[in-house]
Amino acid sequence: MTQEQETPAEEKQPVPAVVKATDLEELAQIIAAFDRSTAALQASHTALQNKVEELTGELSRKNEALSNSLKEVSALKNYLANILESITDGVLAVDLEQQVVALNHAAVEVIPALRGFKMGTRIDAALPAECAELGRYLIEALQKNERVTNVDVVLKAPEEKSATGRQTLSVSVSPIRNEQGALLGAVQTFRDLTELKELEERARRSERLAELGEMAAGVAHEIRNPLGGIELYASSLQRRAQAGSKEEEVSGKILAAATNLNRIVTDMLTFTRSRQLQLRPVAIERVCHMALDLAATVLQQKNIQVDLRYGTEKEPVQLDADQICQAFLNVILNATQAMPEGGTLTVSSRIEPHAGSRGGTLVVSFADTGPGIPDEIRDKLFNPFFTTRKEGTGLGLAIVHKIVQDHDGSLVVEPNQPNGAVFRFCFPLVASAAGRSNASGGKHV
Ligand SMILES: Nc1ncnc2c1ncn2[C@@H]1O[C@H](COP(=O)(O)OP(=O)(O)OP(=O)(O)O)[C@@H](O)[C@H]1O
Ligand SMILES: [Mg+2]
Repeated sequence: MTQEQETPAEEKQPVPAVVKATDLEELAQIIAAFDRSTAALQASHTALQNKVEELTGELSRKNEALSNSLKEVSALKNYLANILESITDGVLAVDLEQQVVALNHAAVEVIPALRGFKMGTRIDAALPAECAELGRYLIEALQKNERVTNVDVVLKAPEEKSATGRQTLSVSVSPIRNEQGALLGAVQTFRDLTELKELEERARRSERLAELGEMAAGVAHEIRNPLGGIELYASSLQRRAQAGSKEEEVSGKILAAATNLNRIVTDMLTFTRSRQLQLRPVAIERVCHMALDLAATVLQQKNIQVDLRYGTEKEPVQLDADQICQAFLNVILNATQAMPEGGTLTVSSRIEPHAGSRGGTLVVSFADTGPGIPDEIRDKLFNPFFTTRKEGTGLGLAIVHKIVQDHDGSLVVEPNQPNGAVFRFCFPLVASAAGRSNASGGKHV
């Protein structure tokens, strides 16, 4: 139903008879203006839409570019990290605040004390005392803005790194600068030269020995001939002398001196002569007993208790028993000389499964309760003719050292607690030298 139908005729509003022309024009103008602004609005809406689409496109392109460049940065970072980890030299870097910003795997391999080292820690505070010198080089490079190349740094080393307790590193330090030359930090590289240094020392020793050997052979020849004559005359003098007479006393002294001289010549030849090792499987306890038996009289005379602590359970090891016995005997005799008023000699043996060599290490120690070895002579102990004893020749430990080296072993001297000295022998159970793996064969040294 419509409105017209409901409204009675007399109530209908009269339609104005005249609509002013000006009103219509105005209305038309308003409508036209409205149309125009609608069109303008429409146009600007379309333009806005286009702009938004354009911006969205640009944004997504930029996002893609950003994500690509992030990927590139991360790939580059990984690549640099891989390079750092693949370098066989140890690498340690700090920023301007001396905080560690890089440390590679090789650095920890060379210096196990760096294991667990936290990035961002200050180098001087966090480096273990035994490698503090490395930190000093880095700080110096930062302060002086200078590079240092291939300096030898000697650090205290753990047993698995060096039998001598010292590790020699070749260290280089360089300031890190950006393209404009501004300082950003310092980087240090280091490599372990311990083995190389030991080989050099060995080569030097062999050279010295070869020279000494020639001289010793000549001297031995010159001395032994007249010495034989002296011994002969002295013993015939002694045979003819009356018991208790002056002649008997003098001839006895001559004989003792000749025997001593003969020992020195023999020691010299033992030390310098190149000799075939006779390697056989032998229980180390047996070799210790052989040496202790030879020293039994003097041990008894000096009232020295022998404490045996074997932990090797008679396991056979490849050694030249006679030579190792000679080495042990020299060390035992030194211990008896260090304890003239008595004391205790502790002989112990053990096998360390993975220390040093792949097949483990046989460790034999002789610990005495004498006065110990002063620090200032420790480095000279193995030098031929180094002695502090009036009647010593200083060849005892030089011979020991040579025998140990011939067996690819090592010998460390340490203080005993609370007093005394410990001589610790280490022999690899799997030989590095091919000759040592042959039970019946010998190794020429
Ligand atoms: N157990 C020890 N305690 C203290 N000092 C020691 C001990 N063993 C060795 N020494 C020191 O090392 C030095 C060198 O020893 P080494 O055995 O080479 O020579 P030596 O005993 O003096 O003479 P020799 O040639 O007769 O053995 C000794 O003179 C002594 O000073
Ligand atoms: Mg000696």
